[in-house]
Amino acid sequence: MNIVEKIKSLRGAGYRKLVEFSSQKEEEFLPGFIIKKISTVQELPTFTDIKQTDVTYPILEPFSYVNIKWDENQKILIYNVIEPQLDEKEKSIYEKISKTLIEMVEISLEEVKDESKALKYLENNVNKVIKNLGIKLTSAQYLKIMYYVYRDFVGYNEINTILNDPYIEDISCDGVNIPVYVVHRKFGSLKTNVVFNDAEKLRKFIVKLAQRSGRYVSYAEPILDATLPDGSRVAATIAQDVAPRGGTFTIRKFTEKPFSPIEQLELKTVNEDILAYLWFLIEHRASILVVGGTATGKTSFLNSICMFIRPEAKIVSIEDTRELRLVHEHWVPGLARPGFGIPLPSGEKYGSVTLFDLLKEAFRQNPDYVIVGETRGEEAYVLFQGIASGHASLSTFHAGSASDVIKRLITPPIELPPSLLESLDAIIVMTFAKERGKSSRRVKEIEEIERVDENGNIKTITVFKWNPIEDSFERVEESIKLKKIAQNLGMSYEDVLKELERRKRFLIWLKNQGIRDYIQVTSYINEYYKNPGKFWEIMEIEDIEVKKGEERVEIKTFSKERKTSKITPTLKLLGLILMKRKAK
Ligand SMILES: Nc1ncnc2c1ncn2[C@@H]1O[C@H](COP(=O)(O)OP(=O)(O)OP(=O)(O)O)[C@@H](O)[C@H]1O
Ligand SMILES: [Mg+2]
Repeated sequence: MNIVEKIKSLRGAGYRKLVEFSSQKEEEFLPGFIIKKISTVQELPTFTDIKQTDVTYPILEPFSYVNIKWDENQKILIYNVIEPQLDEKEKSIYEKISKTLIEMVEISLEEVKDESKALKYLENNVNKVIKNLGIKLTSAQYLKIMYYVYRDFVGYNEINTILNDPYIEDISCDGVNIPVYVVHRKFGSLKTNVVFNDAEKLRKFIVKLAQRSGRYVSYAEPILDATLPDGSRVAATIAQDVAPRGGTFTIRKFTEKPFSPIEQLELKTVNEDILAYLWFLIEHRASILVVGGTATGKTSFLNSICMFIRPEAKIVSIEDTRELRLVHEHWVPGLARPGFGIPLPSGEKYGSVTLFDLLKEAFRQNPDYVIVGETRGEEAYVLFQGIASGHASLSTFHAGSASDVIKRLITPPIELPPSLLESLDAIIVMTFAKERGKSSRRVKEIEEIERVDENGNIKTITVFKWNPIEDSFERVEESIKLKKIAQNLGMSYEDVLKELERRKRFLIWLKNQGIRDYIQVTSYINEYYKNPGKFWEIMEIEDIEVKKGEERVEIKTFSKERKTSKITPTLKLLGLILMKRKAK
């Protein structure tokens, strides 16, 4: 008996079968499973007569939709989750597949942070199971079954669609056989068509919520108070005795809205020139620190400029408390936790996860951007090493000025080698503008790091400065970072300035259109990335000339005849219409 046969005989029949079919060539065609989360929210229509309410919008295209409609029998609005339906035969196939999958899947899917990776892994395994069990499926059946595999293994089962609905603020379930209720941003409290019919299933679901939050719930510890990976808060109980109600849960979705760049313009925190400049820097993966005193709006400003990150970029964020809010699809938010019990000899508590731990882990995931909510201590070292090794990093730091930050970073207790600072591109300094009203904040100045000399002296240049008397922003020195980016891209510096001017126009245009909600602004920015020409056309920019050097005068030429058909730049015009009256 050769060695392979020996192993085969040891591993048993199941293993043999698996090896056999994995060596088989794919014979049948199975369509690829793709699911698209909506990242654009469109205004929902207002119905003067509540009974006329009937609105449908997609959540996970092309599989799940929401329909909100007046129910004549119950005389209330009902929130209906619309998903593909499985017939009895398909249901039993799904049961079979999911049972086998549970046995096959060796990794904990909770730990796979990248959803698309988890999905790919599952899809490969589903395909194996289908072949192995000799199941015959049509393309439509396959896609439906994959949807449920996605929903139940990667998503949040029955409430997955609700959790992904950006309009929902609150989800509550009072037990088995009782409909789940939601609080909708537009329509208020609504009864849904989602019901947990099985007490055991409900209990298992609550255990899953606990697992996803890194917590534990059991009959011995039946109360759960936790935060889901997306920042939503969960409060749940598992009935102590095996009561027919099974358990209850409430999820308060993390919905505090951050200021969009447009709102920052309206608040006069910053002007369009600076935003266009920061946009270009961030797009080209510059590393930036936002600094300032307590409550000067550092975190808010950081959050606003993160909306300029390209939609497809992979972002990992790390925070102590949940503040950052982004709509990027490949955003992995991380949260440090304090641990519990008596501190260990090292001073840390059991189960604690520090920013330092998270940051080391973050760089291992090789993201395009790492965002650290606030840098304070030992994590600075990892952050700057990350920056030096080519990862774009964005963070805030408590300090009054750029020179203050630099001093604090290179002296104890942080003590970074000054040369590490050379990889930082820019420092944004935030300040209060008390004389301009109680809550006014301003970008006081933006400094670029030019170089660090052999004695550790750091040379910076001021690119923009706020003039408190005029309450205006002034350009000071010419940016060296823009020139560097231009060089790397093989573009002329003039062309970079032209692009900045177009982006500036685009931001003004968004402001004039009243597009200010962060979700909407991000989707317009994404659209700009995809097809900037479309916007130049709508904004009627024909050509832009920019003179560099001391004058920095911009000459804009617009088309002389205004084409009226093009001045209705609605979402519809941009092909972004998402809300559908009827789900098909
Ligand atoms: N540009 C702004 N205009 C008006 N209010 C703002 C502005 N930016 C932030 N705020 C408000 O100021 C408060 C503090 O903002 P934020 O948390 O961003 O500041 P911070 O500098 O990060 O604070 P901390 O020092 O606590 O980290 C928040 O309530 C926020 O809503
Ligand atoms: Mg902050």
